[in-house]
This record gives sequence, C-alpha cells and structure tokens, in this order.
Amino acid sequence: MIFPVTVYGDPLLRMKAKPIEKDHEGLREIIANMWETMYNSDGVGLAAPQTGLSIRLFVIDASSGADEEPELKDFKKVFINPEIIETSGEEWIMNEGCLSLPEIREDVSRPDKVKIKYLDENFVTHTEEYAGYAGRIIQHEYDHLEGILFIDHLSPLRKRLLKARLRNIATGKVRPPYRIKVPVK
Ligand code: NI
Repeated sequence: MIFPVTVYGDPLLRMKAKPIEKDHEGLREIIANMWETMYNSDGVGLAAPQTGLSIRLFVIDASSGADEEPELKDFKKVFINPEIIETSGEEWIMNEGCLSLPEIREDVSRPDKVKIKYLDENFVTHTEEYAGYAGRIIQHEYDHLEGILFIDHLSPLRKRLLKARLRNIATGKVRPPYRIKVPVK
C-alpha cells in the first residue's frame, strides 16, 4: 500500500518521533509499505514521519549513487531506533530534495561522516560509519525523526526566499506526481 506523503506544514514533520518496540503492531507491513511509497515517488530515502507515523524508522536505497561509489550497488537498508553517535569529517555541499518539500531543492552543507547505531528489520543491532552519498542520506533521514527538515540548515536569507513556496506547499497548491496528505489548515 502506498502511503500519502506528509508535506511541509504538517505538524507531524516537526515532532520528535517515538522509539519502536519489537512487538510494534504491523511493523513488517509498515516497512513494506514505506519501500513501496518511496519507490513510487522516486525517493532514495523515506522516514516514517513522512508517512504519517511518528516512529523512529527510516528506509534508504542508495544504489543510485553506485555510479560514483561502486560499494553502494546493493545499499538498501532499514534503520530502526537509530542513534547518531557522532558526525565527523569535512562539511560538503549537496543539492538536496525531500518528498515532503515538493519542487524545492537547495544546497545543504553537512559533515561527511556519520557514525550510527541502529536496529535492522530483524532487530539486530549494528554500529557503522558511513560517508559520501550514504552518509548524506542517513543524516537527512535521521533529521526527520528529530522534526528537522533540510531547509532548517539553510541561511536565514535563503529560507526567507523560500517562504512563499513553502506556504504554497502547506496550503496544497503544490501537487507533486505522488499522493500527498495536504496539511489541514
Ligand atoms: Ni526528506
């Protein structure tokens, strides 16, 4: 089942998401639906709050980065209750987009490396470090669990310039080619 994607203006995107218990009802189905929703909207990552669920879960398929980073060929991972232990390395800029901010793309600066502890879909704990494209997507998706959007990393000026477009998203005037849940005014 494809979830409607929550967009800018939805209070759920600004909430800190709750940890998941192992017996969380329907978790396997939620994960399957998140993959379906992500692929349907051509995303490379999707966090649960973007599907209307305020829980600590995101999925990432970074295989589209394999042209430049061959090790990403099979990178398809589920992150449950992730904790960023540290970020390090030099900050670099990437032009980011987000399914919850349709038609907006901006250059965002983030540290290169991220060390993250998380549970996979079988509730096995992993602690790993990622850099480059995967590290970038992980940081973006993790932000969603903290109620942070990539526009929050922009300068106040840049953000001010987006104000009208953000308002259009929040009031349902922007219609991306995937199903969205228009925030209730
Ligand atoms: Ni996003």
